[in-house]
Amino acid sequence: MNGPQETEMSQARETTSSRFGFLMLAAGSAIGLGNVWRFPYMAGANGGGLFVLFYLLFLLLLGFPVMCMELAVGRASRRNLYGAFRDLPEKRPSLWRFPAGVAFSGNLILMIMYTTVTGWMLTYFVDFLTGRLAALSTEAELKNQFTSLMNNPGKMSFYMILTVLIGSGICAFGLRRGVERITKILMAGLFVLLSVLSLYALFLPGAGSGMKFYLMPSLPGDTNIFKIAGGAMSQAFFTLSLGIGALEIFGSYTDKKNSLATESILIISCDTLAALLSGILVFAACFSYGIQVDGGPGLVLFSLTGIFNHLPGGRILGSVFFLFLSIAALTTIITVFENLIAFMMDEWHFSRRKAAWVNFLVVGVLSLPCVFGFNIWRHIHPLGTKSTILDFEDWLISDICLPLGSILIVFFCCRDSGWTWKKFLAEVNTGKGLRFPAWLKWYAAVILPVLILYLFGLGIFNRFF
Ligand code: TRP
Repeated sequence: MNGPQETEMSQARETTSSRFGFLMLAAGSAIGLGNVWRFPYMAGANGGGLFVLFYLLFLLLLGFPVMCMELAVGRASRRNLYGAFRDLPEKRPSLWRFPAGVAFSGNLILMIMYTTVTGWMLTYFVDFLTGRLAALSTEAELKNQFTSLMNNPGKMSFYMILTVLIGSGICAFGLRRGVERITKILMAGLFVLLSVLSLYALFLPGAGSGMKFYLMPSLPGDTNIFKIAGGAMSQAFFTLSLGIGALEIFGSYTDKKNSLATESILIISCDTLAALLSGILVFAACFSYGIQVDGGPGLVLFSLTGIFNHLPGGRILGSVFFLFLSIAALTTIITVFENLIAFMMDEWHFSRRKAAWVNFLVVGVLSLPCVFGFNIWRHIHPLGTKSTILDFEDWLISDICLPLGSILIVFFCCRDSGWTWKKFLAEVNTGKGLRFPAWLKWYAAVILPVLILYLFGLGIFNRFF
């Protein structure tokens, strides 16, 4: 690694030399739209309680070991994922070039859908602030508002590009650390708001049946159980940012004082709490205001607008909520951008500014299909499209890239041609706290990849058949 990159890395390492800083950074990247936007709508579309049960199970069975592995690879190599795959193995490093490609494309695909949805959150923030949403209360009105946004490619593109500009701008000027300091407070604000609102939502009339749907697993009527399991797995990977080296980079910034199993548990707990709280909010609102739970990607927007509009001071509360949510999404975007920029600086020797510019342009342009998938594309496509481009990109990242990347990381940590199990175990267990049990080797090396592969196959099967 050459001079400037080394400086970047060590600067970044300094910032997270405190444990709290590291945890906030990792949790800040993990907590985002996945928790507040994707989780409730996936749960709603997949039968509620059973999906949530599978999701929690997969967090433990898949999320926990893969997170430990990603963090360990980062902490041992002090490199980004691409560098780690190159530097850690003693033998046959060329074998590990492919995972680097999966990770890079994964980050890019994630960005080109994430920016559009973040743009929606910004739009709702501005529209709450200006009072444009104040009059909506029935399901039809709330849904129409969302549909009219989808039919407005100009407005959607504007907010999407604004998102890309803010994200890449902050990275270009190296302002990330300053921003991190502020976002810590704002993230805490989001948690407080989520907690208070969900407590309030629990007392809405009809909230009880909402909670029953959300938390009581029941056998699905017409949705198939495999679809539910596949969806829950992709949600577990997505929400924890696993599989494409996002957490790996945070591992590379942390010190060896604490065992990585402990850190993983803490990150997973924060992330899960955020998701569960927003689920309470959304399903209480849906059952209270008669909104269908399988409303798709707009669900959180129209159900929460419903809540805010029934509350005194809802306009202010709504704008603050969507502001915090936009910021949570932006912190995630900044960390993903950093990942892409690090790759370009590392592998292609770009300067930081140049890498940020290239990312602004590439991500900005490649995000347009997602925006147009809701409007222009539907009109010119001779048959119309049943699913949107957002849906397709989401599938590509969540059902393909993340499981594939995770399997590769698992192999990397368990195989002798990779980093080897012994070295992984030594790294993950360095520091105080919970041990990663050595006897889990058979689980990690055999069952874990088979399980992921099975669910990965299910993702493909469910999409095409
Ligand atoms: N976990 C983030 C969220 O819930 C999204 C995210 C950030 C991500 N980086 C990632 C997902 C890397 C997968 C891989 O919003």
